[in-house]
Amino acid sequence: MFITFEGIDGSGKSTQCQLLKDSLEKKGYKVLVTREPGGTKTAEAIRNVLLHIHEPIEAMTEVFLYCAARVEHLEKIILPKLAEGYIVISDRFYDSTIAYQGGGRGLGLEKMIEINKVFIEKATPDLTFFIDTNLMTIEKRMDKKELDRMEKEGMAFMKKVRQGYLDLIASEEAKVKKSRFTIVDGDLSIGALADMVLMRIEEVLEHDRG
Ligand code: TMP
Repeated sequence: MFITFEGIDGSGKSTQCQLLKDSLEKKGYKVLVTREPGGTKTAEAIRNVLLHIHEPIEAMTEVFLYCAARVEHLEKIILPKLAEGYIVISDRFYDSTIAYQGGGRGLGLEKMIEINKVFIEKATPDLTFFIDTNLMTIEKRMDKKELDRMEKEGMAFMKKVRQGYLDLIASEEAKVKKSRFTIVDGDLSIGALADMVLMRIEEVLEHDRG
């Protein structure tokens, strides 16, 4: 099973990935948590450029760098681990490019879907949790940390990214009977949010079993 978490910066995805891993391991599943961009040395090096370079980057350069990191991550980590029977939880995947570069940078959702077709065809997640956290909550969290290149884009950018996610989810829901997306309220307590995520996964695991 392939599970992804999505959301704007500071939405609380990473915490939820770890909590979910712990819960599923307690139930006896083999679980791998990974992240994008990242997961391999090459992909982590690309991440470093994307988040820490002190020079403006063209929006399309950004797209291809995120996608280059994704090829490494998919071929070297995600697909092999799924084949070994792991539940793979990824903190971000191609939906991030659709929302950030398609929505946030204004390149267009459809164009980003087209560019990501190779990933969509090889590994559409079974479940994607979009953690929808209030922008004011995010702003407060951002005030407390040192910002990377993407986070420095600020709240107007994050608002466009959020809208990108919502448009993407709406367009998928209009196409398929059962959407892979679950929108969860990021302003719930960490524990309540984790319970909701686990409940949804148990539903799917039970459905698959029987
Ligand atoms: P994070 O994983 O710590 O949230 O950092 C990754 C940053 O990169 C975050 O700002 C989202 C951004 N991003 C994109 O803009 N496009 C992508 O395709 C991915 C995977 C991440």
